[in-house]
Amino acid sequence: MSSSRRDFLRAAAALPASWTAFSTALHAAAARLPGAADESYWQLVKRQFPLEENLIYMNAANVCPASRPVLDRHFEYLRDFHANPSFQNRDKYVPMRESLRTKLAGMLRVSADEIAITRNTSEGSNIIVKGIDLKPSDEVLITDHNHPSNNDSWKVRARRDGFVVKSLPVPIPAPGKEALISAFERAITPRTRVIGITHVTNTTGILYPAKEIVELARRRGFYVHLDGAQTFGALDVNLQEIGCDSYSTSAHKWLMGPLEAGILYVRAERIPQLWPSIVTAGWSDHLKGARKFEVFGQRDDPRVVALEAAVDFANLIGMPRVEARMRELATHAKQELVKIPQVQMKTNLEPELSGGVIKFRLKSRSTQEAYNQLWTHHRLAIAMTGSGDSEGLRLSPQIYNSLEEIDRVVAAVRELA
Ligand SMILES: Cc1ncc(COP(=O)(O)O)c(C=O)c1O
Repeated sequence: MSSSRRDFLRAAAALPASWTAFSTALHAAAARLPGAADESYWQLVKRQFPLEENLIYMNAANVCPASRPVLDRHFEYLRDFHANPSFQNRDKYVPMRESLRTKLAGMLRVSADEIAITRNTSEGSNIIVKGIDLKPSDEVLITDHNHPSNNDSWKVRARRDGFVVKSLPVPIPAPGKEALISAFERAITPRTRVIGITHVTNTTGILYPAKEIVELARRRGFYVHLDGAQTFGALDVNLQEIGCDSYSTSAHKWLMGPLEAGILYVRAERIPQLWPSIVTAGWSDHLKGARKFEVFGQRDDPRVVALEAAVDFANLIGMPRVEARMRELATHAKQELVKIPQVQMKTNLEPELSGGVIKFRLKSRSTQEAYNQLWTHHRLAIAMTGSGDSEGLRLSPQIYNSLEEIDRVVAAVRELA
């Protein structure tokens, strides 16, 4: 073994607790491993997560654990806040919030004034649903697999205001990018005012061709809202390139950040056209940009610091590298699972039609039984859908998982099948 390799493995084993130690070790590891990082690099990353030893946690689509550097920073500021809750001590959060906004904007390739710091995807999407002016003659186009926050929310508002919500069925698996785009093209009418889609669905993991769907809408001048709960922190999302009017996401999923912290992007031209959902102390007609969507009353300031730490953590590794690793894990899982004859894969294998969400069912077992057995016998923490067209078991690996864990999961499924 070379001495640089030995040094690196020693650094990984030492489990650097502090942010500085971790970032130094990670930079050193990256410098020694030009190009693709190897398993020892990812072991170093994995050791930053306080996951139980025998747990295989593969449910990023629901909640990710936060890393130690994020938790340390969160606790540090929570203690500081409660040790001295004076206005004077809390003044520092104003510039910290702006620093976070700038980092989030950089990550998504938009401007800081287009970012609102919300509490989760649901809140952000509901701000859009409630904020757009719509007349009874208007139509909103969604899909059957949109999350309720971008689905039922439209239907409930439509009951009150009388517009029409049209929902497209979701093919399983998707027949191809062109077919997905043309389904939208066929459903658009002269009355369509909004398309609300999910970037990657939580149901069967389709990656929608958002850029192309936005182009359809832009040509006709109507609005596209994108639910990014399953892409932010998983894929290297470039909103400038996608061109949507708004994008809503949460920090506690793939970004590995704190609970109840979210991001809402609204394109600059659209901000004046949208009504805010909540108006309270802190409101002014002169709030700059998307800040008008984040006046919610007293905020949990230490949580905002934790969100900034989660962004720093992702940037330290680099979002292209996070995406590449997440895809490596997900692709390996899909490729091995489809070799099991009893597996019916519901997620597409093509990278252009999928992200980190993997859905499959076993033809030989009830989904509920399979889910229970995987937890009881293998301590495999995943998600399941019990019935309907997206019935099945859901795996969603993130960078704290390993190829070895994927192999253990596949072996457990094979044994069960
Ligand atoms: C696609 C999608 N949208 C929205 C949400 C809601 O996220 P939150 O509960 O953080 O608001 C989820 C949660 O799983 C989701 O998968």
